[in-house]
Amino acid sequence: MSDRRKRRLLPVAVLLSGTGRTLKNINDRVAAGRLDVEVRLVIASTPKATGVRFAGGAPSRVIERGDFSSDEAFSNEVFAACRGAGAELVVLAGWLKLLVIPDDFRNRVVNIHPALIPSFCGKGYFGHHVHQSAIDYGVKLSGCTVHFVDNQYDHGPVILQKAVPVETDDTADTLAARVFEAECEAYPEALQLIAEGRVAVERRRVRIFPGEGRGG
Ligand code: GRF
Repeated sequence: MSDRRKRRLLPVAVLLSGTGRTLKNINDRVAAGRLDVEVRLVIASTPKATGVRFAGGAPSRVIERGDFSSDEAFSNEVFAACRGAGAELVVLAGWLKLLVIPDDFRNRVVNIHPALIPSFCGKGYFGHHVHQSAIDYGVKLSGCTVHFVDNQYDHGPVILQKAVPVETDDTADTLAARVFEAECEAYPEALQLIAEGRVAVERRRVRIFPGEGRGG
């Protein structure tokens, strides 16, 4: 048994609204012994989210915003389910609904956005809109951002970013594919840093500690 396999796995809940490519990537990394998390629960915001097929052995639930009178009531249900599953971290994986983060999950909800925040982010910037906007603006670099989630879209403290070039002949599809390759490295890397206890938030700035973690 390797050192990594002896480590405690961080229990997480994964929230998605779409095809679940990010959940699949996480599960592939876990299966390869390269990511110390355990997916305890998958929540979909719509029954149309095909991504639940990647839940593996974890239970899945659909919780729809339309069944609740407010973002807060919806969020309460989501986080109650996460607590019930013993999740210590909530991982957004193509989740398209605004959440109101309860105090006990502050800096314990993470997201990946397919652009370099604070560019091309916020309400309405999802899917190909993000990449088309980057191309139309004419930026030479785009990329992805892993960040903690607060009560605004794509706004919380940045954990890490990876940049990719934007080529002259890019379409939203070709740029999306290049960014997604970067996402497949960035998200597991950030999750592993959190699992190892190497991430601390100091106001808006995230400090990454070197080595084997700080214990505790
Ligand atoms: C990823 O591009 C990620 O950046 C964003 O959602 C996408 C994955 O969602 N947050 P999906 O699996 O394609 O629905």
